[in-house]
Amino acid sequence: MLQAYADHWALITGASSGIGAEFARQLAARGMHLILVARREEPMKALAQELFTAHGTKTEVISVDLNDPQSPARLMAEVESRGRTVELLINNAGFGYISEIETVNLNRVLELIQVNIAALTELTYRVLPGMLQRGHGGVINVSSVAAFQPVAYMGAYSASKSYVLHFTESLWAEAREKGVTVLALCPGTTRTDFFDISGAAPGWLEKNSSQDVATVVRTAIKALEKKRSYIVSGWKNYILSLLVRLAMRSTVVKESMKYFRPEK
Ligand SMILES: NC(=O)c1ccc[n+]([C@@H]2O[C@H](COP(=O)([O-])OP(=O)(O)OC[C@H]3O[C@@H](n4cnc5c(N)ncnc54)[C@H](OP(=O)(O)O)[C@@H]3O)[C@@H](O)[C@H]2O)c1
Repeated sequence: MLQAYADHWALITGASSGIGAEFARQLAARGMHLILVARREEPMKALAQELFTAHGTKTEVISVDLNDPQSPARLMAEVESRGRTVELLINNAGFGYISEIETVNLNRVLELIQVNIAALTELTYRVLPGMLQRGHGGVINVSSVAAFQPVAYMGAYSASKSYVLHFTESLWAEAREKGVTVLALCPGTTRTDFFDISGAAPGWLEKNSSQDVATVVRTAIKALEKKRSYIVSGWKNYILSLLVRLAMRSTVVKESMKYFRPEK
């Protein structure tokens, strides 16, 4: 578990928008100092100013492209050189990619695997040993409800989130007796830029029921405090995550085709 929020440091990836920026707001409100990480520097600098004004907490901004395989090592070396000890790591950076087989952009798929899986894995393994040694700390890895089932036209994305869920649950079991909590957060549809960036049809988000980022992040922090291994945000999403386990796998994936079938 965390030693405390106040005056301890959290590192948040994907902090320039959406769920990551909201983690920054809710953790700064608890007195945490923050290291914000993403490619776009300007929104993170603006957020740092906002948090300092609202809470007087320290915020440092590091612009990093997690698609570069060298980035996690460089990032953690930079954090260490600044003398920061990460009490809470939030691996939130990630994106989706919607495509048919015939028109797939393979580079984009490989980038997705690098950011959603490889960078998250490396950052987790780079911070966890120190936390275990100190006997306190926490990691939140952002997965998705897409982790519970294959999603047609989003195969690499849904598989990447299954990886995050399984990886995180395994680490949760290993770390829990040593005072460290590792949590997989599985949001359902959440109102962020995610769907535009994924290539969903215009207006997709508005046509589907969704949660706001504040609700998702509050749910995650509560689950971390309860030392849960994973949490699905929203009870309807939770029920769905259970139902797909009972249904035939071929039925579930065929049913998923209606969500992201590219429009002709
Ligand atoms: N929104 C949903 O419905 C939903 C549902 C389930 C799970 N999720 C997950 O929630 C997480 C956050 O997504 P979001 O919904 O908040 O979407 P978002 O607003 O698009 O945020 C994505 C964040 O990831 C960062 N990022 C993307 N590629 C990066 C790279 N190469 N290097 C460094 N940072 C990178 C982006 O920053 P820069 O562009 O500045 O680099 C941005 O801060 C993702 O892991 C996503 O899969 C979202």
